[in-house]
Amino acid sequence: MPRVMQETSKRYLHTGKTIGFVPTMGALHEGHLSLIRRAKSENDIVVASIFVNPLQFGAGEDLDIYPRDLEKDLDKLRELDTNILFVPGDKIIYPEGFATRIAVERLSDRLCGRFRPDHFSGVATVVCKLFNIVKPARAYFGQKDFQQTVVISRMVEDLNMDVEVVICPTVRESDGLAMSSRNVYLGAKERLAATVLYKALSSCSQMMAGPSTPNEVKKKLLEMLSAEPLVSEIQYAGIYDPATLLEIDEFKQRNLIAAAIKVGGVRLIDNVMAEYHK
Ligand code: PAF
Repeated sequence: MPRVMQETSKRYLHTGKTIGFVPTMGALHEGHLSLIRRAKSENDIVVASIFVNPLQFGAGEDLDIYPRDLEKDLDKLRELDTNILFVPGDKIIYPEGFATRIAVERLSDRLCGRFRPDHFSGVATVVCKLFNIVKPARAYFGQKDFQQTVVISRMVEDLNMDVEVVICPTVRESDGLAMSSRNVYLGAKERLAATVLYKALSSCSQMMAGPSTPNEVKKKLLEMLSAEPLVSEIQYAGIYDPATLLEIDEFKQRNLIAAAIKVGGVRLIDNVMAEYHK
């Protein structure tokens, strides 16, 4: 199966066509579809993949219950005229004897990496394999998973991969909640409470228009998140350098305001990028 995909990509490349690639784990929502539309507008051929990658799930995480609905996904992809859908099985991606892992050091250990130790190595490994199979000129990722985009961009740079990483805006529900395949885990009360995340991030980004420090913005962010009774855990929340993902104590021109929280038992992440002008 990867051979068929690989040969198909080679044929397109030989005829001078560019391939835009949207890797996904399925359960497609408007966020994924916006990536496909963007890929279509910038490339001759669009390939999407659906692969729930076991390597990026930790012990006790949701691999077994991760939402899967291939029929619905196919309808959505057909509607957008996606040229190729690549749906490899586990054994195709990780055959017997598979022994290689990509580790993007430092960047993978921060923010979400502190709570999901092997997650980004799992992501980098599968994305590297998918790039080698699909051979895209450009690959499309959502800003919601900001750390993922930083890790993948670093890998592409460090390993001299010939792929442009295109980061696209987060797509939100009408009340601001960032779209995610995992939002289906939220019960009705938790779904309402989950809106606190984007509300807090966006009101903190507005604070940066006036005189404030990263510490003051962080304090406000924590206050707003803790005020929601259904927030059961704040894993991290703060202002970070978007290049290093380290917390900052002085604003830069571009600042990442990011948080990971649990609402009920459901883990949610989100971020906004805020410009600072003296
Ligand atoms: O963002 C995702 O859905 C996954 O992390 C990705 C990039 C498809 C790799 O499995």
